[in-house]
Amino acid sequence: MKTAKIQIVKDFEISQTDNRLFSSFLEHLGRAIYGGIYEPGHPQADEEGLRKDVIKLVRELNVDYVRYPGGNFVSGYDWKDGIGPKADRPRRLDLAWKTVESNQFGIDEFYDWSKKAGTKIMCAVNMGTGTPKEAGQLLEYCNFPGGTYWSDLRAKNGHKDPMGIKLWCVGNEMDGSWQICHLDAAEYGKKARETAKIMKWIDPSVQLVVCGSSGPAQKTFPEWDRKVMEYTYDTADYLSIHKYYENDGNDLDFLASFVDMDRFIRVLEGTADYVKALKRGKKDFFFSFDEWNVWYQSQDQPHGWMEAPAILEDNYSLLDALVFAGLGMTLLNHADRVKIACLAQLVNVIAPICTKKGGPAIRQTIFYPFYFLSKYGRGIVLHPVVQIPKTETKYGETPLLYTSTVHGHDDSVTIFALNISKEDLMVDIDLASFGRLSMTEHICLNGNDLNAKNTFEHPDCVSPREITPVRGEFSKCSILLPKQSWNVLRFKIAS
Ligand code: AHR
Repeated sequence: MKTAKIQIVKDFEISQTDNRLFSSFLEHLGRAIYGGIYEPGHPQADEEGLRKDVIKLVRELNVDYVRYPGGNFVSGYDWKDGIGPKADRPRRLDLAWKTVESNQFGIDEFYDWSKKAGTKIMCAVNMGTGTPKEAGQLLEYCNFPGGTYWSDLRAKNGHKDPMGIKLWCVGNEMDGSWQICHLDAAEYGKKARETAKIMKWIDPSVQLVVCGSSGPAQKTFPEWDRKVMEYTYDTADYLSIHKYYENDGNDLDFLASFVDMDRFIRVLEGTADYVKALKRGKKDFFFSFDEWNVWYQSQDQPHGWMEAPAILEDNYSLLDALVFAGLGMTLLNHADRVKIACLAQLVNVIAPICTKKGGPAIRQTIFYPFYFLSKYGRGIVLHPVVQIPKTETKYGETPLLYTSTVHGHDDSVTIFALNISKEDLMVDIDLASFGRLSMTEHICLNGNDLNAKNTFEHPDCVSPREITPVRGEFSKCSILLPKQSWNVLRFKIAS
């Protein structure tokens, strides 16, 4: 059996994780909103039509921020269509997803939902068809205390108190040719800078996220990012980056996706540091990885101009969940630079939660890694010293074991460990710098069938299991990690 060695040293800190790393995303897309979080008439719907069963699952994930309303959708969206009496709201064509938008749900309804779901709003403004002026008006509607046209209209629409939305995306994926009114880097950089000025004049407390690359495969990467950061260095706070992965038929390559995500972030760290040096600046540009997931984009089907069609409803396998876990751990391992991360998305559309019209809501396989990362990933991420066997994948030399370690504020140590090998792996763990510890939990996500999925008929087909933890108090231990498995190893520091 192959063995790996990891030494965790208490003082080798990467960074405290930002709670916003455990955020997600809801777009006006398919059945994410309509039939997802909002389904008037559903037996579980409350008086506002919000599904309580979905809210319960969102609360279980302990999601910090939820990005809204898009995504590609936002680049053609007029937020004013979604406010006021519902009977008066216009039905519009959504050019991003070629669907019909009823506008029965808008910023006021989303604010109410976020309160019930225990989440905060990361609001995106339209930088496609939208103008800097309209972005400012939306911010005024949401956050200005009162006594102006837009803030008084908010009060009239049921929200007397300001919504206090602190985190704003200045557009979405403006580097993409698919984006409604796509811009080049200089055009977007200037528009984003001017929009940011207006927004910060209206509410100086807001934090702004400007569009970086929508993936490392973009021809404009990383030049786009350099230019946008140069234009917005003085006005913006975060650079938004996105990346999705799908299986092209080689499971090992797919499991190694964390290598690619890691490189993507590293290149951007270099790019951001270059801009800082160029500006003779003091500020580090941090990243908002506000769309990440597994997405079988190549399998998306064309559809007509329908209202809330069931599109992008990927049904995730155990293998997808393992890959997903590797991506989530990469975000933790870059906690010094990545301060916000949004699992894209949250309900029905490439999501951990899936609903049936009039029926139940279930947990997809990817629900579980997010659940444990969110539950045990809050604390100080440590940089381990490792000796791990390697293999070759399409990304080059790849470790068979990928880990992320978090020192919790409750005297706990959690090691997340992904074994991508087709064989079990023995891992020797040295935790001596913590003194003596006991092992409290070993949670394992694995199974005989990597293609197994959770369905409405079999909602618990894939779920994590408990393995008996190593007994007694120790400072070193050896743990067997099953082949192709994701593990959560929990330790308690002895007092
Ligand atoms: O999350 C689905 C889509 O992926 C988003 O609308 C867009 O920003 C990205 O391309």
